[in-house]
Amino acid sequence: MTPRTAKAAGRKPPRAEQRCIVSTCGATYGLRERIYVCPRCGGPLEIDCRLRRPSNPAVLRKRWAARATSKLPRDASGVWRYIEVLPFDESAPFVTLSEGRTPVFHAPRSAKYCGLKDLRMKHQGHNPTGSFKDTGMSAAMTQAVIVGARTAVCASTGNTAASLAAYAAHAGLQSAILLPRGQVSAAKLAQSLDYGALVLEIDGNFDDCMRLIQELSDDPAIYVANSINPFRIEGQKTVAYELMEQCSWQVPDHVVVPGGNMGNSSALGKGFQEMLELGLIKRLPKLNVIQAEGAAPLAKLFTGLEPPQLKGSTPLPDTMTPVENPRTLATAIKIGAPVSWKKALRAVVRSGGKIIAVSEQEIADAKAMIGRDGIGCEPASATTVAGIKKLAAAGHIRKNEDVVAVLTGHVLKDPDYVSNYHRGTLSLDSGPIAGAFRNAPERVAASKAAILECLARRQ
Ligand code: F0G
Repeated sequence: MTPRTAKAAGRKPPRAEQRCIVSTCGATYGLRERIYVCPRCGGPLEIDCRLRRPSNPAVLRKRWAARATSKLPRDASGVWRYIEVLPFDESAPFVTLSEGRTPVFHAPRSAKYCGLKDLRMKHQGHNPTGSFKDTGMSAAMTQAVIVGARTAVCASTGNTAASLAAYAAHAGLQSAILLPRGQVSAAKLAQSLDYGALVLEIDGNFDDCMRLIQELSDDPAIYVANSINPFRIEGQKTVAYELMEQCSWQVPDHVVVPGGNMGNSSALGKGFQEMLELGLIKRLPKLNVIQAEGAAPLAKLFTGLEPPQLKGSTPLPDTMTPVENPRTLATAIKIGAPVSWKKALRAVVRSGGKIIAVSEQEIADAKAMIGRDGIGCEPASATTVAGIKKLAAAGHIRKNEDVVAVLTGHVLKDPDYVSNYHRGTLSLDSGPIAGAFRNAPERVAASKAAILECLARRQ
């Protein structure tokens, strides 16, 4: 980075560092240290980018806007376009597949379904591997190359795995992924196989896989690519910057995301907080996180918070009771012990948002409703619309407020779920899920008359 760029970016030397987020610890470490939790207290780490408020934030905005039309491969990435706020130099060995730059759609039918005047959706399923994981993976694999890693590993419910497999392959690194056997959609698993990852199927659930990753993380042969890796969060936070650009820097009232391992909510929270500190925005949007009822440890903890904790005048809890046997058909978020819960909780409370849970029925119908807007997504993503409907009914979101739902995965990530919903065969052990917006295929005679009759009947 030239001194001129650094000045405009508001960054002052020394460069970024890794920092423990536990307020009683706050230990700092160099960027090259391959650590995933604080070696001193075991707390979560984040990157302090040492950003300094620029005298004129418009300079940064203009530069980012100009890069959107640039032909340089690095600028084609929705991550590296924001290099000024990332802990990387211009000379970094960028591992990119043109991630980010995802669209924002208006979704009028979903808005009406939720009782709102308008609703926008930022669709992260438009990323190279079809999920929001790619922005973070671009940053994590770039860091893996910088520190000379040879093998990158992750635990996954499917999307992190597909993303890691693709980005590691692109960087020429070996990748190994730990999946809960029989609990990952066939489409996601197929992606990882195709990208050449070593796929290790574990008898257990995602939380068991994550525990193994934490055990493996001190082995020097292994580079952990889960969202406990703070470089993943750096890549993912750019989604908040990109969203604000797409909103012409007008802050939405609410941003709503699904909650699983809580990396996404942590990353968006960090992005918005940084923009506030940089003077790029004047207030934070309320960050609302939605979990599936059968896998909602953080929603439960949030319900029990005392008013002074919500106001930030007394500390947030130190422990969270995990869900031992998480259950949901939204397999992407079938997680009982989210590793990044502390960062996510801090971000939600700071913004004045909420963490709630929605039922399987609510998720399934919300997903079909998003489909009726011509916008497909995977089940976990649909928790957003189910959650917005619930939050609107409870008065937390008002009819005329500006709301953005972040859709996290592509509809083709889990075609079995979609097909079962529409054919009326979707069920969890608690019973069948009756689709309010079912659209089963019809068997029709091979004749013009039969087809016209069918069209008239279904109008
Ligand atoms: N939506 C989708 C489609 C996901 O794949 C995930 C997480 C989430 C939402 C939740 O995001 O974990 O950052 O809170 N998938 C991870 C995986 C766990 O392994 O693919 P989160």
